[in-house]
Amino acid sequence: MKAFNLKSLSKIGAGVLLAGAGAMFSPSALAAGGAGCGTYATGETDANGNPVHATLACSTAPIDLTNKGSLQRGATMFMNYCVGCHSAQYVRYSRVAKDLDIPPELVEKYLMVTSDQIGDHITAEIDPELQGQWFGAPPPDLSLETRLRGDDWVYTYLLSFYEDPSRPWGSNNLVLANAAMPHVLHNLQKELGKEEYEAHVGDLVNFMAWMAEPVRHERKIYGAFVLLFLLVLLIPVYLLNKEFWKDVK
Ligand code: HEC
Repeated sequence: MKAFNLKSLSKIGAGVLLAGAGAMFSPSALAAGGAGCGTYATGETDANGNPVHATLACSTAPIDLTNKGSLQRGATMFMNYCVGCHSAQYVRYSRVAKDLDIPPELVEKYLMVTSDQIGDHITAEIDPELQGQWFGAPPPDLSLETRLRGDDWVYTYLLSFYEDPSRPWGSNNLVLANAAMPHVLHNLQKELGKEEYEAHVGDLVNFMAWMAEPVRHERKIYGAFVLLFLLVLLIPVYLLNKEFWKDVK
């Protein structure tokens, strides 16, 4: 009975509470830690003639997995602008239809550009290995990209392309210096105003966040319930502990 004292009980309790809190926050949110979204050369030099570098602050991606309209627009953008090169091999078209409330007929007609079976995974139009030879780096699969890099990193990356005539495609990126990816949203950026363009990219990253973790919204709700349950449970457990030890002490 000795091992079961209040000290070890509280340790277990704290561990479980921490695990509950961990479930509420995504690992990328914890890892982001304000380190910025990469460093870039400002073009200026210091007193010793060395190039000056600045840290690029991350922009905050407007993630809201309950906003079906935003997710639907993001899915359309992803299918139109990204699956030419990138795959999302862990996501099925049928899941897109189900989770985003899009009628399967519409998914088949407008969104399935690389397949004709709604149960299929989202594959890239062009073999990524072949593209690796063209671009110098194969376009990575994007299913889990926002969990790998964080939502804000991906959002900032997509907003950080700039013209650079020295690069093969005439564009470069502040977040990923000398990125092999061309600025595929260049025309869209020119067509739309700044705010509208950022809103479009926000929808796209929102969709990518859904792809990486479709149950993210539910997870947070469960997390809150679990923490609440544990807090309530703490009262009878504490009283019980007191009762058990009353006669021993
Ligand atoms: C013309 C082909 C092409 C298209 C279209 C394209 N990409 Fe890329 N993308 C690439 C290549 C190549 C890389 C690898 C870049 C590198 O490592 O330098 C890349 C890299 C990325 C990365 C960074 C991956 C990482 O973690 O390093 C992200 C994020 C990304 N692409 C998102 C997108 C999104 C979103 C779209 C649609 C708007 C898109 N890409 C369209 C070719 C493409």
